[in-house]
Amino acid sequence: MSDLMLKKQRIVEENFDTIVDSEFAKDVVYGLSQPQKRLSSKYFYNDAGSQLFDLITEQPEYYLTRAETDIIQKYGSQFFTCLEGTPFNLFELGCGNGDKTFNLIENMLSAGQHFSFYPMDISKVAIDGLVKNLHQSFPLLNVQGQLGDYHQFLAQINTLGKQQQNVVLFLGSNIGNYTPAQAAELLGDLKKGLNSGDLLLIGMDLKKDFDRMTAAYNDKNKVTEKFNLNLLSRMNEELGANFDVNKFNHYEIYNPLDNAMQSFLVAIEKQSISLSTINLDIEFDAFETLFVESSHKYSFRDIEILAHKSGFEVVESYTDDKQDFVDSLWRRL
Ligand code: AVI
Repeated sequence: MSDLMLKKQRIVEENFDTIVDSEFAKDVVYGLSQPQKRLSSKYFYNDAGSQLFDLITEQPEYYLTRAETDIIQKYGSQFFTCLEGTPFNLFELGCGNGDKTFNLIENMLSAGQHFSFYPMDISKVAIDGLVKNLHQSFPLLNVQGQLGDYHQFLAQINTLGKQQQNVVLFLGSNIGNYTPAQAAELLGDLKKGLNSGDLLLIGMDLKKDFDRMTAAYNDKNKVTEKFNLNLLSRMNEELGANFDVNKFNHYEIYNPLDNAMQSFLVAIEKQSISLSTINLDIEFDAFETLFVESSHKYSFRDIEILAHKSGFEVVESYTDDKQDFVDSLWRRL
């Protein structure tokens, strides 16, 4: 690194907290300054990114959402029959637009289950839309939307509802986007916030033929590519960066060492990027990568081990006909 760049970097470090006030900006400064550049996939989901993700779920190669929808259609009325009619609080972590949940709630209500619903999401648009739709379709259901990052609710989730019994939904293989350490922390917090006997229904993508998994994240319509490149556009819009999205490729492979699909943006040529609002200059060598997402895949044994390590036991695993995906029902020990 040149003297000038070192000097600039020192100035940024010394004034870090005044220059960089959002969590996104801080993570960008940190992540793009690492020897292996990286950025959390949680930053995919601005408005444009959320719309692209909805489109991904409709791509023929992306089997995950369809498989989980099938599971919910088939078993939605049975998931919580082990509670034998006890009324409960139903929480959903990161409900999003709630398409799947809507289906599940319909099944649960027609099976005569008694619960109040607490959907949690960081997006006000998502929460407001879901609450409104649920009120219209199920006027007798008590729905209390919780706006905010769901991590903040986990360790005291059992104080939020009126009933003693709690049930948590964590669907869509969202757990797969956490590193193993982050997943352990999340499940540890959730364990703290639940009472013994409370339930967690957790969606996970099962390990399968590598070509099928690889195709799911490299769809022919290139929606996943756009979804990943949107991260560069987001830095352009929010941090005054000058990324040229045409100078990066999407590259995604299955890594059996990490049991995960791993996603990178690859610089197709050497380039200098400046992020003007945070005073950061970054160099990309030709073919240098920015690591943007892991999507972990699980075997039934992996799931048993994770449940036990986290203070839960597996009650039942519900899968689709092809055994692509599992909604696994865990009980807090
Ligand atoms: C939200 N999450 C479970 C998706 C996944 O499969 O890891 C995000 C995604 N990334 C690329 N395609 C879909």
